[in-house]
Amino acid sequence: MEAYDIAVIPGDGIGTAVTSAAMEVLDTVAEKHGFALERSTYDWGSERYLEAGAMMPDNGLDRIESADSIFLGAVGHPEVPDHVTLNGLLLPIRKGFDQYICKRPNKLFEGIESPLRGYKGGDVDLVVYRENTEGEYANVGGREHHGFDHETAVQSALFTRQGTERIVRSAFEAATERDGHLTSITKSNAQAHSMVFWDDIVEEVGEDFPEVEVNSLLVDRSSMDLIRRPEEFDVVVASNLFGDITTDIAAIITGSLGLAPSGNINEANDYPDMFEPVHGSAPDIVGEGVANPLASILTGAMMFEHLGDGEDAAADDLRGAVEEQLADESAPHTPDLGGDAKTVEVVSDLTDRL
Ligand code: NAD
Ligand code: IPM
Ligand code: MN
Repeated sequence: MEAYDIAVIPGDGIGTAVTSAAMEVLDTVAEKHGFALERSTYDWGSERYLEAGAMMPDNGLDRIESADSIFLGAVGHPEVPDHVTLNGLLLPIRKGFDQYICKRPNKLFEGIESPLRGYKGGDVDLVVYRENTEGEYANVGGREHHGFDHETAVQSALFTRQGTERIVRSAFEAATERDGHLTSITKSNAQAHSMVFWDDIVEEVGEDFPEVEVNSLLVDRSSMDLIRRPEEFDVVVASNLFGDITTDIAAIITGSLGLAPSGNINEANDYPDMFEPVHGSAPDIVGEGVANPLASILTGAMMFEHLGDGEDAAADDLRGAVEEQLADESAPHTPDLGGDAKTVEVVSDLTDRL
């Protein structure tokens, strides 16, 4: 039987609950489709930071580099500053393994009530290609003159030709496989260096894809249009920060952050990919047993497609069961979807369906 090595990092807050829920369901699907997930689980995260002073060991990346894939829950703890936790674990993996594509699909499923008036299942179906290793998240800058009136903070965005071209090209390729429509999110009216460069690259790469229709939208306008006419979006390409913001909007208009999956992908296959839900550690609901595990489970379906030659049948099976559950009014749904079910009830219902 085919077996895949998966490095599992449940992390903080609801990350642990949704990861164990997802693993249970992924095992069921894998067994059904004749493969196995051999997991190594790492206790890296904020509890470790509070005890040992670091989110992960110094050689953390070396320890997981040979895995077929990485699966992460969430990172973030109310007692540790976010820039410490995220720069100590999640961001170094994305960057250190050159996972330059952050792929985030969002669909309005049957049975889900969008907060947008008049939208029903099937009306929204888009995927965001977010640049994931540079842009506004580059660690370029510093703070000077602490405590003085002239205290200064500089954080420079970094846009390289290679980094911009490769995310834009991947998004164009995705557009050719979908509806042939690409939205590029920009802010070149105000950011005359980085975002004009971004627009130039979109135009240049676009010459290789004459069949793709490109719509360039300023980020303020695209945020508005995602709310007023989300059906017009298909493939979206955005810088690191704009993509981050856009994908929380895309998640909520399609029902909940609790349904939004994400993959951090090194398309060159030099390093393992990392799959994680879009959401964070949700300290406001941690410990209540009500975290929606479906974002993490749908993230597992994305991971299946990237294992070996692609475990696509398993991914389709899993997505089918999730869609069936969501469409079934009498099935258990967590409070973020308007129900009153617990995480475990969602898992057990899904297991029955599978
Ligand atoms: P969040 O995504 O944790 O939560 C936002 C809102 O969505 C909350 O009301 C939460 O209860 C709800 N929510 C999120 N996931 C849910 C789920 N699966 N089921 C039901 N409801 C869900 O964002 P935040 O509150 O801005 O951040 C909390 C912490 O998480 C911070 O420390 C932040 O830095 C961190 N964070 C981590 C990641 C990550 O690890 N990938 C992503 C985002 C935020
Ligand atoms: C996400 C998160 C992260 C990001 C944070 C936690 C650093 O918001 O994955 O969307 O901004 O990339
Ligand atoms: Mn985010």
